[in-house]
Amino acid sequence: MLRILTAGESHGKGLVGIIEGFPSNVRVDINEIHQDLARRQKGYGRGGRMKIEQDQVEILSGVRNGKTLGSPIAFLIKNKDYENWESYMDPMEADIETKKVTNPRPGHADLTGARKYGFDDVRNVLERSSARETAARVAAGSIVKQLLKVFGIEAAAHVTAIGKAALEEEIWDFEKIKEAEDSPVRCVDPIVAQQMIQRIDDAKETGDSLGGIFEIHIKGLPVGLGSYVQWDRKIDAKLAYALMSIQAIKGIEFGFGFKNAQKPGSQVHDEIFYERERGIYRSTNQAGGIEGGMTNGEPIVIRCAMKPIPTLCKPLRTIDLHTGEPADASVERSDTCAVPAAAVVGEMVALTVIGEEFIRKFGGDSLEEMMQRWKACKST
Ligand SMILES: Cc1cc2nc3c(=O)[nH]c(=O)nc-3n(C[C@H](O)[C@H](O)[C@H](O)COP(=O)(O)O)c2cc1C
Repeated sequence: MLRILTAGESHGKGLVGIIEGFPSNVRVDINEIHQDLARRQKGYGRGGRMKIEQDQVEILSGVRNGKTLGSPIAFLIKNKDYENWESYMDPMEADIETKKVTNPRPGHADLTGARKYGFDDVRNVLERSSARETAARVAAGSIVKQLLKVFGIEAAAHVTAIGKAALEEEIWDFEKIKEAEDSPVRCVDPIVAQQMIQRIDDAKETGDSLGGIFEIHIKGLPVGLGSYVQWDRKIDAKLAYALMSIQAIKGIEFGFGFKNAQKPGSQVHDEIFYERERGIYRSTNQAGGIEGGMTNGEPIVIRCAMKPIPTLCKPLRTIDLHTGEPADASVERSDTCAVPAAAVVGEMVALTVIGEEFIRKFGGDSLEEMMQRWKACKST
């Protein structure tokens, strides 16, 4: 089973990731990981930190001469900002007074985390709950992506709404969606992109923040990843679990999930056809590529809703944890809107789940073994 763990605080030494259960003999291109890390750092509306960081990954184990060994892959992404934070974040001897935070931000993990773990300093919570952690998940996802690419599986993500600026038409053409890569807000329509930028500027000016919606498309999938036989093996459930674990993601939809709820079945379900040259196919994909908890061979389409960023430059009301008196919520250096970045994180996290199920179905110790089983399955 493929498992991914991450560790690291936002202003600590760095982020660490471990990938366990990855097959041997897969070529790993470090530049591709760097490209994906850079994609996560881009996006109009991000805060100052993104200019400092420029994430670079250092692989510590599990890869030799550019190929995986089948042993756990461990990697490190150093926090470039650590040099400014060392005296406050040193694991053994830190000045904990200077950077103490006692005004928890509504919408963040601050208050509940401090109560749960018994802290009088919210910094002990925010350092780990911060979405800085997603850099490690992107690096891990990027390695899984390199395995899936060998089997022709590819993903793309685009932003369909930021605040009230939203795409009106559905865009499900994979090549078109890839064009979002060139947009500062990851939106394929330049007019809507401009409206999104304007909304972000307005929010910034008033000290506010914005959320939005992004869509992930995954193509080239074999039939039958996931299973209907047990609730915790359904691939839509697994994807929803993993995507919901991304900071600030609060809604998930597969295909036209919510719109379909308002239509009769005759207008919703994807009819089945067969042609000798094409094999079995559908002319629509309203289900978003998943039926009965399994991939049905059509592209997976997932939509994720991200809430607005909790840190506001014009802070919301809170209390001071030490005195119980009313206070303004703390203001850490923050993004105004991170939907374009979250889309990249979503893409990588979704690929990780696909990788896990792909390895489960075609699993083997080596890439060659997987390839044999995959070819055998394709020819049936
Ligand atoms: C890519 C990304 C960047 C984020 N940047 C910030 C940020 O700069 N400031 C902030 O307060 N929250 C940010 N968030 C959201 C918080 O991390 C998140 O709201 C918080 O951890 C609480 O978790 P929850 O929203 O899932 O309940 C970001 C989320 C993502 C996915």
